[in-house]
Order: sequence, then C-alpha cells, then structure tokens
Amino acid sequence: MALVTTKEMFKKAYEGGYAIGAFNVNNMETIQGIVEAAKQVNAPLILQVSAGARKYANPRYLKKLVDAAVEDSGLPICLHLDHGDSFELCKDSIDGGFTSVMIDASHESLEKNIEITKKVVAYAHDRGVVVEAEIGRLAGVEDDVNVADSDAMYTHPEEAYEFATKTGIDSLAIAIGTSHGAYKFKPGTKPKLRFDILEKVGNLLPGFPIVLHGASSVPQDKVALVNKYGGAMPDAIGVPEEMLRKAATMAVCKINIDSDLRVAFTAAVRQHFAENPSHFDPRQYLGPARTAITEMVKHKLIDVLGCAGKA
Ligand code: G3H
Ligand code: 13P
Ligand code: ZN
Repeated sequence: MALVTTKEMFKKAYEGGYAIGAFNVNNMETIQGIVEAAKQVNAPLILQVSAGARKYANPRYLKKLVDAAVEDSGLPICLHLDHGDSFELCKDSIDGGFTSVMIDASHESLEKNIEITKKVVAYAHDRGVVVEAEIGRLAGVEDDVNVADSDAMYTHPEEAYEFATKTGIDSLAIAIGTSHGAYKFKPGTKPKLRFDILEKVGNLLPGFPIVLHGASSVPQDKVALVNKYGGAMPDAIGVPEEMLRKAATMAVCKINIDSDLRVAFTAAVRQHFAENPSHFDPRQYLGPARTAITEMVKHKLIDVLGCAGKA
C-alpha cells in the first residue's frame, strides 16, 4: 500500500455523513500516536505538515516516518501540506512525495487567490496530487501569520462557488467561525458557528468536500491537567464537539485538529515530570505523551468524526 490522495476518502465520507481527521504532525511520537489510534479503530487518516513543521522537522524526515506508518498499518493515509502559502512551497511538497497540498492564498484578493490556486492545481493534477484551497479568513495563528479577530471574514457562499468552479480544486476550506489555536471563543461567550453558510455552500456545490480548519475542542480536563502540573494556560474555549459532529453530517469531509494534540501531549509530559522528577531519559516522558495522543485521536475518530471502521 502506498500513500493515497483524499479522493476516495472524501467521496465515501460525503456519502456516509462523516468526516476524515486531519492531524498535524511534527515528530515521530505524534505520528505513531495518531496511527496507533487509527489502527485500533480501522480509520482512514490525513497526516498534515505545516510550513512550521517543515522548518522544525524537515519534510524529508516526516515523509519517511509517514511512509513507515503506511507500511506498518496498511491503512489509507494521505500526506498533506497544511497552509502552503506559495506555489513554490506546494511544488516542493508535491515533488517530495506529498499526495495532497493546500494552497492558502486566502489573504489575497479573490482574483489573485484564483490565479495562484489555478497554477497549483495545474501542477498538482498533472502529478496525481489533490489540492485544497481556502476562501474567507479564520482568526488566529496560521503558519506564522497572525490574523487578528477583526481581519477574520466569513466565507461568502457565492464566492465559494465561483472560486471552486474557476480553480478546479478538490476541496475547499471555508470560514464559518472557527479559528486556529487554543483560544477560539472568549470565556463567558457562547461558541457559535455559521451553519447557514455551510448549508448554502453545500447547496451550491453538491457533493463537493468542504474543509473545517481550527476545529480543536480544547478539552477543559486536559487544560486543567496542564495547569495542575505547573502550567499556566488561560481558560480556553474550543469548538464544541457536537458542532463538529453536525458539520461532519453536512458537507464537511475534513476536520483539522492540531491544538488538541498539543494540549494532550503537553499535559502528559508535565504530569510525568511532576510524578517522576528524577527522570531524564526522553523515552520515559515521550512514551506517555504518545499514549495521550492515541487516546485523544481515538476519541476524535470514534465520537466526533464518525470515521472509525471506514478504512
Ligand atoms: O494551522 C495551523 C496549524 O495548527 C499548524 O501550526 O504553523 O504552528 O505548525 P504551526
Ligand atoms: P486547531 O488549532 O483548532 O487545532 O486547528 C488546526 C488547523 O486548522 C490546522 O490547519
Ligand atoms: Zn488551518
């Protein structure tokens, strides 16, 4: 089995009313933790690498780790570039063996976004690689670009239709109120997503896979664990899981999760050191972190995304 694209996964997910988990990876323990969860519940997977992850780990190392995951698990796994901000970055990822890329020119005008995205689509499709793009802007940190709340914009459904049809992309990320990072909604406020926008986009583009970024739920018990063992995370509010479940039954076929993995990993490391202050072998604290990733991802695959058993 080789790496796959998202074509088949998204088709089945759309028809089945569930979503595929797209998890950000930066190191071996996270990859192994995620893949172990998918193996246990027989789920398809998207492993995604951001520009920051490329800088941190070198995409060549991550590609080999993901190849090993495919070989070890036999699962359908797609290796995806998350938030590629230029044609060159997408090209480099395609040339390096990624099976899916995101070109994120959402900060540009609609015309410019279409122009850059079309160029990536042409290069990718010639090589059997699929393309995700974005329209509208999420608040929060996107690959070193900090989008202020005031600059965030909901997606206009008509623009989404124009963008998808003119560019020939394979999936589209839209902005309906989620945002990147652990602090998505102000404490004391009620999380709200614009399901009306999602519904309109779904009606205009029937059968077309929609992507939800910024979809971590930031579980309070994990934040509490981080803080119990010496952390100082402010109260965080993520996207309620029932909203993600609803989105998965609609046109959303890919749900991006990074922050939840970070919090689970960090909570496990902090707890380990608090309970074992004399330990200094990295395997002693990275092992529990890897297990915490597995538990978190299993919960997402079974209870939130609905893709357990769909590999
Ligand atoms: O969308 C952002 C992802 O969480 C990746 O974050 O740029 O810090 O690797 P990063
Ligand atoms: P979170 O920060 O909510 O995990 O979002 C991750 C993401 O959208 C990666 O592209
Ligand atoms: Zn994102």
